[in-house]
Formats: sequence, structure tokens, C-alpha cells
Amino acid sequence: MMVDALGRTLDYLRLSLTDRCNLRCVYCMPEGGLVSKSHTAILRLEEKLRLCKILCELGIRRVKLTGGEPLLQKNLDYFLRELKKTPFLEQITLTSNGLLLGDFLTSLGPEAPSLIAAINISLNSTDAELYAKMARREALSQALAGAHLAKSLNIPVKLNCVPLRGYNEATLADLAQLAESQFEAVRFIELMPMGLAAHLEGLPMAEILELLEKRFGPLVEDNSKLGNGPAVYYKIAGFKGKIGFISAMSHGFCSSCNRLRLSSDGFLKACLASDQGLDLKSPLRSGASDQELKAAIEGLAASKPMAHAFVGSDNQSLENSPQPYRGPLGMYRIGG
Ligand code: GTP
Ligand code: 5AD
Ligand code: SF4
Repeated sequence: MMVDALGRTLDYLRLSLTDRCNLRCVYCMPEGGLVSKSHTAILRLEEKLRLCKILCELGIRRVKLTGGEPLLQKNLDYFLRELKKTPFLEQITLTSNGLLLGDFLTSLGPEAPSLIAAINISLNSTDAELYAKMARREALSQALAGAHLAKSLNIPVKLNCVPLRGYNEATLADLAQLAESQFEAVRFIELMPMGLAAHLEGLPMAEILELLEKRFGPLVEDNSKLGNGPAVYYKIAGFKGKIGFISAMSHGFCSSCNRLRLSSDGFLKACLASDQGLDLKSPLRSGASDQELKAAIEGLAASKPMAHAFVGSDNQSLENSPQPYRGPLGMYRIGG
């Protein structure tokens, strides 16, 4: 078991399979895309599998596949089936923009729900034009089709929305409505000021709550847990699904953080907001033993930062922070 200096058990790995993406969300990806990394910069599938095996031996029990867009990973079906066999690993989930999801799940066939326990789909607006304004691609119907196909296979689907001032505000309640009967949850994420997002303005949770209550009446906090992340959930009367909030800025959740992150080029990070971490690719390729890699990983886990550096401390709000973090990292590099 990996426990850090603050007693937090680290049992959840976010594995970014690639930093490439087929969308260009304004808060994440440069409009012109990325300079492609050389083939050798990215870990091979066998290397990713070996690191996952080692991490599970150390205490990881759940893996979230992220990107960029994880469905751009070649031979993902093979990878999933191999990853599924990893000793101690109890659950694999996926966060995707949904565009390629229909085809991918169809290619997995009836095994799909046993390989992927739950899927989060990034979908910022129910309005095709606003969706396209944020994603810089006209792809709403494709993303929704992916979400519905997953649902038809009985894979629980949550929608992720990043409310952005000047973009999707007017359609947030319409999006929330999709939790009435269609999806397990619709979640609103406070913008974290990383990379391109540093120049944009997100909406704080309190404002979204108010906006939703105007349309739907009171939202009642719901203590049940969905998934493994930091979201808190609310119920709306008459809704089957829940409304979730991931409020890294206004309601810090670092004190209960259970996560490690591995980027597609083998950099292991103990905190999303930190640029500190451990290069695992070099030792992996220069013949390090499992024991040597484990010792290095345990060292990183033990030194996990107490709280993210976006704001001064765990519970300090962005507005109160004298010097909010304005880091250079784009989310596509670490998968959120
Ligand atoms: P589930 O609860 O299992 O569905 O997972 P999740 O909410 O962690 O997954 P998802 O990939 O959908 O992430 C949603 C948002 O939560 C993204 O914007 C992530 O960046 C954010 N998030 C997840 N973990 C952390 C964290 O440790 N710190 C911060 N600041 N944000 C996080
Ligand atoms: N702040 C908050 N959420 C972000 N995401 C991407 N960049 C940011 C950011 N700067 C979201 C994506 C996706 C999830 C994994 O993270 O929209 O839903
Ligand atoms: Fe792609 Fe997700 Fe970044 Fe949008 S937020 S560009 S879907 S990686």
C-alpha cells in the first residue's frame, strides 16, 4: 500500500495514454494542435503495462485512462485486455471526449462492459454551435452518439462540463437536464488555470448552483459516492441522475487526494498542479529492475504535495488568493 506523509492512501492511477486529441478545446489545446512527439518519446504499450503492473503491486487498485483523447491510442483493445489481467487491479474506467467511442465500443463487442466499468464524457454544451465554439470542432452529435451507445451497453456514463464565462453559461441548465433520465450524472468542473486556461474565466460552483436552482428548484447534497474522483453530488427532485461539482478552486479537496498520474511519456506525478515528478522512461529503458522502479515510485508517493499550487492552501478560494497559480502545463499533457 502506498501512503504519503499525510496519511493519504494512493490507490487510484490516472494514466494518460496520449497527449494527442481530435478536439481543440479552447481551455486545453492550442488551435493548431501540438508538435507531435517523436514515436520513441511515448511509452510503448508493453512499457505502460509493465508500469501499471508495478504500480498495482505497490497499491494501485483503480486505473482511469485519460489523454489527450485516450481513444486515439493504437491497439487500445489489446491494451485493455492485457491491463485487465493485471494482478490487484480492480477497476478500469475511461475519460473521453466521446467522438470515437461508438466505434470503439462496437469493436470491443460484448466484452466492453466487463473491460470498462464507467465512462466520463467531456461535453460542454447541448447547443451545437456553442459546443463547436469551445471544442473548435463541430462534433456535438458524434459525442452524444458515443455517450448513448455506452449507455445502451449498460456502462454508466457521466458528462463533464467546464463552464466558461462568455461561452457555455447560457446552456448549463439544459446540460444538467440530461441527468433527469439519460445519464448517471452531469458534472460541472471549475476551470483550473493551467496552460491556455490561465487566460480564460471559469464559473465558480456557487454561481452554477444558483443558476441551476433558478431552473430546477433546490439541489440537495447527496452523500453517496459515484466513481473515485473528487466530485461532490447533488440531487434534483424528479431526476434519476445526479448533478456533480468538481471544485478544485473554491472547495479544495487535496486533503483527501488518492491519486497518482502517469503521462504518456512516462512521467509520474503526485499532483496535477505540480511540475515535479519522476521520469520513469529513462530507468525503464536502461534496464532498471522492478525493485528499483518501485523504490523510486515509493519515494515520489511519500513526497506528494500537501495541496495544489493553484491557490495558497487547500480551502482558499481563487478570489482570496493573492497569487493564483498560472502554470505552463496544458491539461492534454496529464489528462486532468
Ligand atoms: P470518477 O469520479 O471516477 O468519475 O473520476 P474523476 O472525476 O476523477 O475523472 P475525470 O477524468 O472525469 O476528471 C474530472 C475532472 O476532475 C478533471 O477536470 C480532472 O482534472 C479533475 N480532477 C481529478 N482528480 C483531480 C485532482 O487530484 N486534483 C484536481 N485539481 N483535479 C482533479
Ligand atoms: N480545468 C478544469 N477542467 C479541465 N479539463 C481540461 N482542462 C481543464 C482545466 N483547465 C477537463 C476536460 C475533461 C476533464 C478530464 O478535464 O474538459 O472533461
Ligand atoms: Fe481534447 Fe479533452 Fe483537451 Fe478537449 S479538454 S482538447 S477533449 S484533451
